[in-house]
Amino acid sequence: MDNLKTKGKLGILIPGMGAVASTLIAGVEAIKSNKSKPIGSMSQMGTIRLGKRTENRVPLIKDFAPLADLEDLVFGGWDINNENLYEICIRNGVLEKSLVDDMKSYLKSVEIWPAVFDKKYVRRLDGDYIKTGANKMTLAEQLEEDINNFRKKYNTRAIVMIWCGSTEIFFKANDVHSTIDKFETGLINNDPEISPSMIYAYAALKNGIPFANGAPNLTVDIPALIELSKKTGTPIAGKDFKTGQTLMKTILAPGLKARQIGINGWFSTNILGNRDGEVLDDPDSFKTKEESKLSVLDQILQPDIYPDLYKDLYHKVRINYYPPRGDNKEGWDNIDIFGWLGYQMQIKLDFLCRDSILAAPICLDLVLFLDLAKRAEMSGIQEWLSFFFKSPMTLPELYPEHDLFVQLAKLKNTLRHIMGEELITHLGLDYYE
Ligand SMILES: NC(=O)c1ccc[n+]([C@@H]2O[C@H](COP(=O)([O-])OP(=O)(O)OC[C@H]3O[C@@H](n4cnc5c(N)ncnc54)[C@H](O)[C@@H]3O)[C@@H](O)[C@H]2O)c1
Repeated sequence: MDNLKTKGKLGILIPGMGAVASTLIAGVEAIKSNKSKPIGSMSQMGTIRLGKRTENRVPLIKDFAPLADLEDLVFGGWDINNENLYEICIRNGVLEKSLVDDMKSYLKSVEIWPAVFDKKYVRRLDGDYIKTGANKMTLAEQLEEDINNFRKKYNTRAIVMIWCGSTEIFFKANDVHSTIDKFETGLINNDPEISPSMIYAYAALKNGIPFANGAPNLTVDIPALIELSKKTGTPIAGKDFKTGQTLMKTILAPGLKARQIGINGWFSTNILGNRDGEVLDDPDSFKTKEESKLSVLDQILQPDIYPDLYKDLYHKVRINYYPPRGDNKEGWDNIDIFGWLGYQMQIKLDFLCRDSILAAPICLDLVLFLDLAKRAEMSGIQEWLSFFFKSPMTLPELYPEHDLFVQLAKLKNTLRHIMGEELITHLGLDYYE
């Protein structure tokens, strides 16, 4: 499998150098210098069973699949303020100051370029470190120039881009998003339906750079960019990192359904005080997030197929911006369930989580798996990476799979498939023959 070899630097380019991106980059550096272990990262700590249970072959995923080595990662990105990564880490306060201080010179050396940004799409933010140009196409060209300079500077073997920028306002795919020709005309004509995140994605895909979307905005999830990804042989994945409350939902809901427990109410509320929370305080940005968070239960519980158990389910999701908590989000869930003879019960879940601590390892896994997918000549939507997303991208005729354990089985089987190993069905009858 010569095409899967991994020698050389892998560039990770990140539009949006905020809490998640800085926690990822500082985290990788801390792990490289043995200050910590890559906890939460399936690519680094997860294992994969190969062959029969009697064979005892359970390697680490990173030893099984030829993933890029952490030593080979180089980072760069864009943001709307001229801050360096050290300042960003200190401002966000996710990691202890002493840890960040230890890496000060490295963090200051990570390049951050002026953003393609327009306040119309993220109303709560202001910045002055922003590219200007005659139209959206020239802005895309400026991004390509940043990418090429980065590629030359670090002599990268390959590059992956991951959107860690703020959540843009809600809109639906439109005519300008329907084909790549229309999209390119739209870039030249400054079409208002083309958001900044789409411009980054376009610049990446045009250059064969895999793209993942960590936020719920449409971005690559439009026919025009899916078409471009196929044309340039580039893998894409999205949307919206599956971290706190939704992660819990996709763990709990499949379990309740598996036991045919009914649910008639699921109320979820969050308080968080980071910049993400501030952006989501704008109703139009929240609407994008809400769509993403709400879709999960319907798909898992299938009320049309199980009307007696789920047809009356009332599902509500709230996010409240509450500055004192910073990045330490608290997510409450009240779940009204019913069992045998319809008797009511309740589950209360209070998840005191750390948003960026949960998202950073997901980011790492995504860029490593997308780089592998590219080398394995996979292009277009990478549904096997649904495991990492709240709103997994799929072909329009397919419904997304939200059940975390189905997603896990799919991810591992895809790795086995890429590496030419037998798939595992869990049938196991042959053991008893
Ligand atoms: N942390 C989590 O658990 C989690 C989970 C799911 C999704 N997300 C999403 O990930 C994204 C990042 O989250 P975060 O906590 O790091 O937010 P953050 O606010 O700390 O960082 C986002 C950064 O993006 C920058 N930005 C906005 N528009 C930009 C543009 N056009 N170009 C370049 N930079 C731009 C902002 O200035 C900011 O620094 C958000 O969209 C969030 O909704 C986070």
